[in-house]
Amino acid sequence: MNSIRNFCIIAHIDHGKSTLADRMLVHTKTVGEREMRDQVLDSMDLEQERGITIKSHAIQMDYELNGQAYKLNLIDTPGHVDFSYEVSRSIAACEGALLIIDATQGIQAQTISNLYLALEHDLEIIPVLNKMDLPNAIPEVVEDQIIDLIGCDREDIIHASGKTGMGVETILERIVEKVPSPLGDPEAPLQALIFDSVFNSFRGVIAYFKIVNGQIRKKDLVKFVATRKQYDADEIGVLKLGMVPRDVLSAGDVGYIISGIKTAKEVKVGDTITHVDRPCDKAISGFEEVKPMVFAGIYPVDADDYEDLRNAMDKLQLNDASLTFEPESSAALGFGFRCGFLGLLHMEIIQERLEREYDMNVITTVPNVSYLAHLTDGSTQRVYNPSGMPNSTLVNEIEEPYIRASIITAAEFIGPVMNLCLEKRGALVNQSYLTAERAELVFNLPLGEIVFDFYDKLKSISRGYASFDYHVSGYKPAKLVRLDILLNGEMVDALSTLTHFDNAYPFGRRMCEKLKELIPRQQFDIAIQAAIGSKIIARETVKAVRKDVTAKCYGGDITRKRKLLEKQKKGKKRMKQVGNVEVPQKAFLAVLKLD
Ligand code: GTP
Repeated sequence: MNSIRNFCIIAHIDHGKSTLADRMLVHTKTVGEREMRDQVLDSMDLEQERGITIKSHAIQMDYELNGQAYKLNLIDTPGHVDFSYEVSRSIAACEGALLIIDATQGIQAQTISNLYLALEHDLEIIPVLNKMDLPNAIPEVVEDQIIDLIGCDREDIIHASGKTGMGVETILERIVEKVPSPLGDPEAPLQALIFDSVFNSFRGVIAYFKIVNGQIRKKDLVKFVATRKQYDADEIGVLKLGMVPRDVLSAGDVGYIISGIKTAKEVKVGDTITHVDRPCDKAISGFEEVKPMVFAGIYPVDADDYEDLRNAMDKLQLNDASLTFEPESSAALGFGFRCGFLGLLHMEIIQERLEREYDMNVITTVPNVSYLAHLTDGSTQRVYNPSGMPNSTLVNEIEEPYIRASIITAAEFIGPVMNLCLEKRGALVNQSYLTAERAELVFNLPLGEIVFDFYDKLKSISRGYASFDYHVSGYKPAKLVRLDILLNGEMVDALSTLTHFDNAYPFGRRMCEKLKELIPRQQFDIAIQAAIGSKIIARETVKAVRKDVTAKCYGGDITRKRKLLEKQKKGKKRMKQVGNVEVPQKAFLAVLKLD
């Protein structure tokens, strides 16, 4: 066990994590130069994920220092806030972390949030200043930031470049010297932490784990503590460029298990694997069931595609246990699904995969968060869909989820960033300067306010010089009301939103104005109304067309006429009939683009 080092890399997006990891793989001959180039070529393909390190989740390198052989396990951490629970489990499987910081950019929000996670787990931190080959690197300034942040000595900071290979040898040496070898008792009952899993269409679900105590052998009968399911360990092994089967793995080792698991749902990140015969006393702490935070309806554009959509969703869920969905029907959109996602990025990924991999043509409704409705009869109801919010006369209080957000920005943008957060009902918790020019602002914000256009606004007001990270902190009561939209007196359930009472009137007005722009004129007047309960708070009218649209058809050119008809048919497909009104798809997302 003294020869094992388990470490991860924490970095802000684009600071060079993958490039540096690839360099280490080549340096330790885990991957040949040729294979690496092939990988890079593969990555040109949109369907391929980028880089070996991303695909492999964990990879073992053999490394020799002063005549002694070491096994270095690099455990990958997902890069985005939506997956922060997974990040925390990957970190929990390590004893050390490389903290990579772009020497031209300095510390960013994600650097800090992941660093805090690593410190919580007592990881040894090895600071690395990357991209030192770039002429605009400002090493002294960034070193000052790092020293301030983690209290290391200037000499501890390794200068590196994923591009030239500078510093790679020093990083590997430092990992051996500084990162503690894993503790743990190989004789104790088995306790292994699941930190990730993948779905393989030939082999089923492959779970990745780190053994905290005990040993696991091929063919052992094991159980997963949280799911209480039992499996035979058909194959266990370590991860190099591919999977390398082994007969036994021991405390400190990082490996994989294949045991006939069919769906991703059966493997929960953070769960503990133990033996059926000689189980451990208690599971490894920190297990949490990940819960979706953002919800949206997904509907087929063509009602006939409903079954295909269900199949596609089923397949996606095999891979991705954090995706939830259940059938839902909407008076406006017909039959579809209410889906739960970890966050907005996750939602975008799913939407894109449905379209790209499954060739589905879908309408996604405006995303919302989940609310707790405390009812007058004393019960509490979780609400995933604004149109499902019980009538206000039945509701005592509504609670909504809050996040703690960290924003790092240049001093000149502090004012605008503050204004944006306050406009989004945020409360400033802390403000501190990292250097004279850069500050970190910490806000408590309602999650529901950032699911719309927060990222985009933040980027534009700071001209790209602001980074943002968050975690969910809990539920708080809020004065929310359900705002409904009516077309010619008929409520369109897919357009209902929950909004703060203070914003409801201007919001309702802007919704009506926007819908007036988006709904084409038809043979009759269309009244667009916004309502809270039975009270109408805004109204617009789309005037009827007077001219006959077919007047444009001229002459007897039959092919031209047919083309025109085809075109109209296609146009029709992107419309939904609501009562007697035809509503274009983009109107269902109108609320996202109100400004
Ligand atoms: P994500 O996986 O998206 O979080 O990014 P990452 O942190 O893994 O960064 P990645 O390795 O993909 O590098 C981001 C960009 O920086 C790429 O265009 C790299 O080519 C470039 N890059 C990485 N390291 C260096 C370096 O040391 N020097 C220079 N000049 N460019 C680098």
